[in-house]
Amino acid sequence: MSDKLLVIGSSGQIGTELVLELRKIYGEKNVIASDIRSTSKKTLQNGPFELLDVMNEKKLFQIVKKHKITQVYLLAALLSARAEKNIELGWSLNMRSHSHVLDLAKEGFIKKIFWPSSIAVFGPNTPKKNTPQFTIMEPNTVYGISKLAGERWNEYYFNKFNVDVRSLRYPGLIGWRAKAGGGTTDYAVNIFHDAIQKQKYTCYLSKNTTLPMMYMPDAIEATIKLMESKSESITIRSSYNLSGVSFNPEEIANEISKHVPDFEIIYKQDYRQKIADSWPQSINDSYAKNDWNWQSKYDLKKMCTDMIKNLSTQYLNLVK
Ligand code: SER
Repeated sequence: MSDKLLVIGSSGQIGTELVLELRKIYGEKNVIASDIRSTSKKTLQNGPFELLDVMNEKKLFQIVKKHKITQVYLLAALLSARAEKNIELGWSLNMRSHSHVLDLAKEGFIKKIFWPSSIAVFGPNTPKKNTPQFTIMEPNTVYGISKLAGERWNEYYFNKFNVDVRSLRYPGLIGWRAKAGGGTTDYAVNIFHDAIQKQKYTCYLSKNTTLPMMYMPDAIEATIKLMESKSESITIRSSYNLSGVSFNPEEIANEISKHVPDFEIIYKQDYRQKIADSWPQSINDSYAKNDWNWQSKYDLKKMCTDMIKNLSTQYLNLVK
């Protein structure tokens, strides 16, 4: 029997891209997209979609049974900036959705889970450069606390109930197919939209705030690579460090200026600066490299060229 996948949060930044890739591999009908809001036209047109509020455990169970789901990709979450503004929802959504899905696997209804963690699991006392896999973790955001707790549950469910759960600590993700929403690293997506439309961007982080980031094709490849690896090669069940490219707002602005010569950036910090200051600047992902041959492909230059090419075409098509 072929695998049947359920992607929860398919309308979000990662989901929009992951569904397209997974459908290429598993077949359009075998990847069920689901989200609390309706999804992109492209996703709807080429495969099944279910409206799902992941807090509705009953409906989740019905969908899993109806489609005979074997793997769940749980992408629904409140990200760092939004969760700071809505503490209760951030905590309950991020934790409850995760425990519902872990329990589905524990009870034998599904076989495999992908659950994303984040660089937000680290905190101000974590070494900032080349942050190791195992280190001090004292997150001071709601999002970070929920992700660290989730990582501990992953490992617990694997050890205690043999649940095949796999996870990555994503850096800030940058892609052109979907907008980012509610994160501290969103500036690195928004800057491209504003550069192309207005040749001007107001950045809520200071110019020297270096953060770990990754271009979406790398993130999608890492996710699929991890999920397709043999269970024996996965030595970390909490969540893997994952590294792409590190830069600060000034560096990305300079790179964008090479494509958009009149581009101007101004800085106006807000509450997100404090969140960014608590996170690492670069990540050591040697475990991912050794365990399942991970290697990122995009540096800052390659990413900016590709982003601007694709986004410009997208905006051109919109006005046509
Ligand atoms: N991109 C996320 C955020 O900024 C971090 O995982 O919240």
